Amino acid sequence: MRIFLAIYLFVVVATLSILGFRGSTSTKPPLEVFPDMDRQARYKPQAENEFFADGRNDRLSPAGTVARGNYFNQQEVFSEDFEDTRLGDTTFLEGKNEDGSFVEKLPIEVTYELIEQGKEKYDIFCAVCHGAAGDGNGVTKPYGVLATNYHDDRLRNEADGYIFDVITNGKGLMLPLNDRITPEERWAIVLYVRALQKSQNTVAEEGI
Ligand code: HEC
Repeated sequence: MRIFLAIYLFVVVATLSILGFRGSTSTKPPLEVFPDMDRQARYKPQAENEFFADGRNDRLSPAGTVARGNYFNQQEVFSEDFEDTRLGDTTFLEGKNEDGSFVEKLPIEVTYELIEQGKEKYDIFCAVCHGAAGDGNGVTKPYGVLATNYHDDRLRNEADGYIFDVITNGKGLMLPLNDRITPEERWAIVLYVRALQKSQNTVAEEGI
């Protein structure tokens, strides 16, 4: 009985102290369980820094650094006569028409090189979860999270812009990938996803 009372008291006190003070404010400093995580010695982006002669925290890339295979080609972007011809082109950058609906077809020219580029990027960025054939047979499957199988009518009938949007912004459990795949590469991947869908849904007589 004594043990029971002790446990009962402990549970009551624990419940009250954890739940009872939710939402209440205090002027006292909060309890810091990991102070070194709350207060890290670090520099904030775009802040001042006396250590460097130019007084800036952010450092430019060392002179002569060349961005490779990167959308943001600095030398080009910062050159005087640079003009971003795609600026404001929502069809290309977001896969959407002016009214916000998804574009039906790829807004760029379809070439064999584009499919090849799509395959390369698909193998890097998507195959790990969706499987090489796009059937969802990837690393997450054993854990009960099925990365969607592309081979069903719903996804076959979705607009190209929709697939582009899933890559750009993610969907449900899938992460957005726009920070590492350029819009052109995303369109290339969409094209390759279409090729995969075709590969699993065709009859010999139909041809290519
Ligand atoms: C980390 C694993 C992971 C990666 C990498 C990944 N996906 Fe996904 N993807 C998922 C999961 C999980 C879902 C299911 C999301 C849900 O329904 O919650 C999904 C769903 C989708 C869907 C279906 C959306 C719908 O309407 O149901 C498409 C299309 C898709 N992914 C395309 C891609 C493409 C193309 C790439 C590569 C650029 C990619 N994914 C990379 C995990 C991933």
